[in-house]
This record gives sequence, structure tokens and C-alpha cells, in this order.
Amino acid sequence: MTFNQVALEQAAVRGLLRVVSGFLGHDVAPEWRKAAEAIPRHRFLPDRVWLSDDDDLLTLCDREREPERWFAAAYGDVPVVTQIDDGQEPEDLSDAIPSSSASAPSIVFKMLELLDLAPGMRVLEIGAGTGFNAALLSHRLGDINVTTIEIDPAVAELASSNLNGLGYAPTVVCGDGSLGWSAQAPYDRVVATCSVQRVPYAWVDQTRPGGTVLAPWENPWISGGLLRLTVGDDGTATGRFTPDSSFMLIRTQRRDLRLFRDVVMDDHVPVESTTTLDPWAVADSAFETQFALGHRLGDLWYAWDHDPDFDDVETRLWVSTTDGTSWAAVDWDGGDDTERYPVWQHGPRRLWDEVEAAHDWWLANDRPGPARFGLTVTPDGQWAWLDDPADAWRLP
Ligand SMILES: C[S@@+](CC[C@H](N)C(=O)[O-])C[C@H]1O[C@@H](n2cnc3c(N)ncnc32)[C@H](O)[C@@H]1O
Repeated sequence: MTFNQVALEQAAVRGLLRVVSGFLGHDVAPEWRKAAEAIPRHRFLPDRVWLSDDDDLLTLCDREREPERWFAAAYGDVPVVTQIDDGQEPEDLSDAIPSSSASAPSIVFKMLELLDLAPGMRVLEIGAGTGFNAALLSHRLGDINVTTIEIDPAVAELASSNLNGLGYAPTVVCGDGSLGWSAQAPYDRVVATCSVQRVPYAWVDQTRPGGTVLAPWENPWISGGLLRLTVGDDGTATGRFTPDSSFMLIRTQRRDLRLFRDVVMDDHVPVESTTTLDPWAVADSAFETQFALGHRLGDLWYAWDHDPDFDDVETRLWVSTTDGTSWAAVDWDGGDDTERYPVWQHGPRRLWDEVEAAHDWWLANDRPGPARFGLTVTPDGQWAWLDDPADAWRLP
């Protein structure tokens, strides 16, 4: 490597650490600064990656053709997608879904900070991806204390070779991380770098009492929020949310449910009514509102239809259960002063009534944001709560 290259990489790392410090609101801790300086992020990226453009659409970036763009992404505070559609690589990128990536550095370091690690601690990571986070953990804790699991064989192999190429040798397992990895348990920390809608109990079970489970969280209504649970002596874990962060959902909790294939059928005869609750107030509204509603609504998800092809309907909001057995639709006529919106409901549950009840609950509780919510995980399932773990409701 030439002197110029070394200087360029060092400057890039310094620049990135400045940006990460800005995001954290304080300097990156010296131990993580040292790890970042020792572990060049670009060494973890394949030559072909996908980057989001200004419209949030994925575009291919080939290192050979665009070396400067590729390098800028490696040291930018951006997620770099390293696999799409589980490695299928469609010709048309517009529908492609990222299935592996190097997460944005600010969130990587935020999560490392939330883990509150100390020398000698043993960590299990779910989602090895590029291996970058496992390298940072190994630098801090030693290879012997780090295990990382990756479900995709090609990605797991890449993580191993990236790690070994820089002299790191944590245990890399190819398998389903939702089962944890009991061979090395108990852990002081379990950290997921893919999001979950249900915290697998194996993660709690394989963490020692007093230890931490940290996972990006989402529910079918909204994605976002880091969940930090402390494991108790009684085999349960409880903790709160830190807002923001958006990760790809763990593969084993994906659903392939399509509105007009699986949910809404031609022979359905929905019940008609009207509502004064503006559909825009519950979907595509402020993150805080949707986060709260998602916690109340449990198994409900929504989709907008901005071109519904009905007279006097500008936009239709569809709401469905995740098993597709009940649905509701609410129409907006495009006016600024609409007072009543037509509602259609089908199935054993009245979903718009549930949305209204959740919205009323949110207003009655002074519009709580994510920081007031928590979650408790037990062998029997998971419970959400507002302010007080004793007053919890079951989540699906
Ligand atoms: C955002 S990437 C991880 C980033 C990674 N920690 C890094 O430093 O590059 C999420 C990864 O989780 C993996 N994943 C998804 N579901 C999984 C599962 N059930 N078990 C293990 N890994 C999983 C994906 O294949 C993907 O590589």
C-alpha cells in the first residue's frame, strides 16, 4: 500500500468518526475509536454493492467503474447493501429488497455503546453480514469471546474471509440466529443486527442473569427502535426502547402476505360506516404516533392505495391482520376539510374500530413517545407496557 493510500484511509476514518460523534452527541469512546482505526470498513465490502440514491432507490455501485463513489460509501455514514433478494439479483432494481448490508456506522457505534461492554464479556451477534461489527467486537473482547451467526451461507463465508483477512477469528456460525447458539452460552450480551417483531426466547435463555439482549425492533405497523432488555433471575427479560433505527427483518419472521392475493377477495361484502378519524393521522403520521399505535394494534399492518380508481376517492388506506382474515379500508376524497371518511370492514374483527380505540388510548395517555414504552419477554411470549411493566398487554 502506498503512503498516499494510507493517508487517505486514515483521513477517511477520522472524518467518519467525527460524523459518528456528532450523531452520538459526544466523542466516540477511546476503545471504540481505537477499534475503528484498526479495522478499515472498506475491507469488509465486496466490489459490487448497492447504494441508495436521492430518491431512496437502490443503485449498483461497482468498485472498478466507480472507485471513488465506492470508497466514499465505505467511509460515509450510510448503510451499504451487500446482497439483495437473498442473492437472486433481479434485473429490475426498483422492487429489490436488501437482504444483507453493512449497517450505517452511526448505528453500529450506538449499539456498541448501548451494549456497555467490559473486557472478558462474551457476546453473541445475530447477523454476521460483512463481519465488520464482529471485527470491532473481537478487537475489543478477543476472538474467544465473540460468536456471530449468519443465516445465508454465501454471506457467512464472506464474513469469515473478511474477518480472517484482517487477522480476526471469532466463531462464525452459519445457521438460524433465532435459535441462538447454545454451544457457547451463557452470554453476557446478545445483540441482533437484524430486526425482530418477536424476540426469540432462546436469546433470553442463553443470556446470563443481569446480561443484556439488544435488538432492533419493529412491529407490522412500523419499523424503528432499538430494544434493550435486561435478563432477570426468573428467566424473563424486560427493558425499554430507544427511538430510531431501521434494520432488515430477521429472515425467519418474514411474511409474504399480499393484499389482493391473500386478503381482499372479490366475493367479500364489507360492512359500511363512516369515521371522523383522519386516516393520515394513524398511517404515515409522526414516528411517535405510529410507534405507539403499532404497540397497541399488535398484528395489524397497513398499505396505501394512491390510485384506487373509484369516483371521489383520492386515496384509500387498507388495514389488515397479519393472518389476512380481517381487513378494513378508509377513503379520503382529497379535500383539506373532510369531516367524515367512508369505512369498509370485513372479517371477524372490526379493524377500523380497533384503530380508533388505539388512537383514543394514545390521546388519553398524553400522546406517549417510544421512550415511555417497554417490553417484557417470557418463555410464554412477549408483553408491551407503557411506563409500568406491571400493567402490560400481550403482543402477538
Ligand atoms: C444488517 S445485516 C448485518 C450487518 C453486520 N452485523 C455487519 O457488521 O456487517 C443483517 C444480517 O442478518 C442476517 N440474518 C437475517 N436473518 C437471520 C437469521 N435468522 N439468523 C442469522 N442471520 C440472519 C442477514 O442475512 C444479514 O446478513
